[in-house]
Amino acid sequence: MLQVPRGTQDILPEESYKWQFIEQRLYDIVKAYNYQEIRTPVFEATELFVRGVGGSTDIVNKEMYTFKDKGDRSLTLRPEGTASVARSYIENKMQHNVEQPIKLFYIAPMFRYERKQKGRYRQFVQFGVEAIGVEDPLIDVEVISMLMNIYKSFGLKSLNLKINSIGDMESRSKYNEALVEHFSPRIGEFCEDCQSRIHTNPMRILDCKKDRDHELVKTAPRMYDYLNDESKAYFEAVKSKLEDLNIEFEVDYNLVRGLDYYTHTAFELMSNAEGFGAITTLCGGGRYNGLLEMLDGPSETGIGFALSIERLLLALEAEGIEIPNDKGLDLYICTMNDQARSVAASLLHKLRERYISADMDYENRKLKAQMKDADRKNARHTIVLGEDELNSESVDLKNMDTGEVSRVSFDEIITKLEDL
Ligand code: HAM
Repeated sequence: MLQVPRGTQDILPEESYKWQFIEQRLYDIVKAYNYQEIRTPVFEATELFVRGVGGSTDIVNKEMYTFKDKGDRSLTLRPEGTASVARSYIENKMQHNVEQPIKLFYIAPMFRYERKQKGRYRQFVQFGVEAIGVEDPLIDVEVISMLMNIYKSFGLKSLNLKINSIGDMESRSKYNEALVEHFSPRIGEFCEDCQSRIHTNPMRILDCKKDRDHELVKTAPRMYDYLNDESKAYFEAVKSKLEDLNIEFEVDYNLVRGLDYYTHTAFELMSNAEGFGAITTLCGGGRYNGLLEMLDGPSETGIGFALSIERLLLALEAEGIEIPNDKGLDLYICTMNDQARSVAASLLHKLRERYISADMDYENRKLKAQMKDADRKNARHTIVLGEDELNSESVDLKNMDTGEVSRVSFDEIITKLEDL
């Protein structure tokens, strides 16, 4: 039997209403923060991610869906959204827009060839935001406050926001030198990946899942001690403005993030909920001051975050929060004979033109079975069309919640339902 590819899933109607609810909530929240939607292609030139996300990252080295098209171009299904947004910003010269920063969001599928695990898919949907063009701790705080608002708006409580500063390029390179010195003598005790990371991106050793308990990881120099005055001041400003908004956070000096473009503020939101699973990161993001230049763009800076809807759903499930399912029909039409079925079909046509949700039986079932079907479909009203009703051109409109019945003519049904 043919099956969905490993690490992907069908989202069936029993689940898709949750997605719609979440997406609608996200649209409402981004509107409040004044972010506009951007839609970029599902695939991009492979080079974009190699240069943007970074050649030493797991994403680029192990997880990309890369293929050659018929014109022998190397393309990659996007593993994340930031590089694509940066590419589009540069290509569309958004630095010249009068309104700055440029505040963008996306809800889009991403692709990573990862080991399948609870909360980890090969195709997943990210909601992300990017604010590009202004470097100000207040923008960092705006972005972080939006992400906290999103999770809180669903009633989630077991949340832990971790933040760190990776500093500017100068601080970062000094820190990397210190890490090389620290790890080099015993790098042979680390996994193969870390042995190559020490040459490409030593900071990533701190983030290694295999070596996280190694004594040298615990005693590693702290990024904070290598931040220059400017980077320290920026970090302190972000923290104090978060406090001003009563946003709780924990500073995690080992938080380095898995993508290479970050500078200054980096953050992750974790779930503490019992039963969430081994992967507890709900959302991650940070500032990327060098990314646009790395892609031959202007020296504009940006900050953003992304979360996957799949993990948001897991968090809701782990905290026992239900998403309302407003599935239901305004009207279900029961029919007693063929003529009634034709009349019902014309009536449905008119109702639906007015956005009134309505349905009927298409299987010629007995009245009792039709009523059961109406119930299953959560119909708020029903009518029965039989010989009498056809002759009198009127029906008993029954309110299924209250049991109340009112006699209405065929012509009145639409206005009556519209009023209700
Ligand atoms: P990321 O940390 O790679 O960052 O991914 C962000 C979020 O995407 C994760 O926290 C998680 O919710 C979700 N995610 C990642 N991989 C998977 C997966 N295999 N299955 C399900 N969910 C997953 C980024 O992608 C950056 N572009 C975020 C960003 C935006 N930074 C600045 N702007």
